[in-house]
Amino acid sequence: MAAPEDQKVPVHIRDSVLEHATRTKHAVHDASSFMAELQVQQAQYACLHWVVHFEILKQMPQPPASISYENLASKAHVPLVTLRSVLRMLMTKGLLCETTDGRVSHNTISAPFAKNTHFEVWLRHVVNHTVPLFGAMIGATDKYGDSKKINETAFNVVADTELSFFEHLKARPELEHEFDKYMKSQAEINTGIRAEHLLQGFAWSALPAGALVVDVGGGSGATAMVLARAHAGLRLVVQDQAVPIANARAALAAESNADVVARIKLAEHDFFAPQPEPGAAVYLLRTILHDWPDAEALRILTPLARALAPGGRILIMDMVVPAPGTGARTLEAALRQKDLAMMLTFNAKERETDDWYRLVAQVDPPLAIRAIQRPEGCQHSVVEISLASEA
Ligand SMILES: C[S@@+](CC[C@H](N)C(=O)[O-])C[C@H]1O[C@@H](n2cnc3c(N)ncnc32)[C@H](O)[C@@H]1O
Repeated sequence: MAAPEDQKVPVHIRDSVLEHATRTKHAVHDASSFMAELQVQQAQYACLHWVVHFEILKQMPQPPASISYENLASKAHVPLVTLRSVLRMLMTKGLLCETTDGRVSHNTISAPFAKNTHFEVWLRHVVNHTVPLFGAMIGATDKYGDSKKINETAFNVVADTELSFFEHLKARPELEHEFDKYMKSQAEINTGIRAEHLLQGFAWSALPAGALVVDVGGGSGATAMVLARAHAGLRLVVQDQAVPIANARAALAAESNADVVARIKLAEHDFFAPQPEPGAAVYLLRTILHDWPDAEALRILTPLARALAPGGRILIMDMVVPAPGTGARTLEAALRQKDLAMMLTFNAKERETDDWYRLVAQVDPPLAIRAIQRPEGCQHSVVEISLASEA
C-alpha cells in the first residue's frame, strides 16, 4: 500500500505508539487532569473551526517558507490578535509552528491540509458536518425519542428537513457531490479505512479470469479502481446514484491505464431494486449497510441474495464493533465514533458480530456467513457470505 504523503513513521508503528500513549494517559489521569484536558480540547476544536472558516491554512506558504502574522492577518482579513492566539493554541495540539524570528509556518501535520484536497475535504467535513451533527444529539433525543425512522435523526434537526439523509442529498446535488468527495477522501487517505485494505480481505487471486465484481453503492469508483489495478483478470461494475456515477465517469476519464478503464463499467442503479447483473462472482457492499437500520439493510441484501449463483459471494466491508474494552482502545474509539455518527445520521449503527449473524440469518433466500476477517491496520472487516445451501 502506498504511504500517504508526509507519513512520519510506518502506520503500524504509529498506531502502536498512539495506543500505548492512550493507555498511559488513562492510567495516570485523575478527574481534575481529565477536566483540564477536556477544556483544552474544546478550545482546540473551536480554533480549528475558525481556521477552516477563514481558510487560514491555504493562505500560508508551504514549508520551509514562513509568513509573518501581520501579513497573514491582512491576507485573510482577520484580526491580528485573534489570529496569533488561535494559531498558538493549535500549536499546542501539534499543528503549525513558529520560527525563531516569530513567523508562522506549516509543519508536517498541517501542510497536507493546504496542498492535498482529500485532507482539506476531510477537515471541512468534520468541522462543518460532524461537529454540528454531534451537537444536535440532545435535540434529536428531545424531539424524536427512541424513533428508528431514517428521517428522525440528529441530521434532520441540523438540516431542518423531513427528508432522510440520502433523499436530502438527491434533492441537493451540490451536497451529494460534497459527500461523494468526502467518501473518496476516506478511501484514499484515511489509513484505517483506505480502499486498498480490501485486497487483503478476500482471496481475489482465486477468482477465475474474467470474473465479474459488482460494487453495489460503489460511489465514484475508488474501490473498483483499486481492484482493477491489482487484479488484471477482474471485470467490474460500479452501481450508484446519478451524481456519484457522473463523478466516477470523470475519474475514469482521468485514468491513464486504458486496461483498467476498459474493465470498469458504470451504471446508475437503486440498490433496493432487483439486481440487473445476476450471477456475478462477487457483490461488494463497502460501507453501505452501516448507513441503514436492519429493515432497510434486509431490503438491500435480498436482491443480491436472489441474484447470487452457487459459488458466488456477497462481501460486506464494514465495521465489526468489538465488545467494550476487548481490543485496542484507539481502534474501539474510532469505531464507536462511526457508530454514533451512523445513529445520528440514519438511526443506523456499526454492527457487532452477533448483529451481522442475526441480520444475515433473516435474508430470503437463505445465506450463510463463511468468514469474518479484519485486514491488518484496517478499521473495517470483510464479511464473506454465500448461499446457505453451499455452506
Ligand atoms: C457511505 S457511501 C459508500 C460508497 C463506497 N461504497 C465506498 O466505500 O466509498 C454510500 C453510498 O451509497 C450510495 N447510495 C445511497 N442510496 C443508494 C441507493 N438507493 N442506490 C444506490 N446507491 C445508493 C450513495 O450514493 C453512496 O455512494
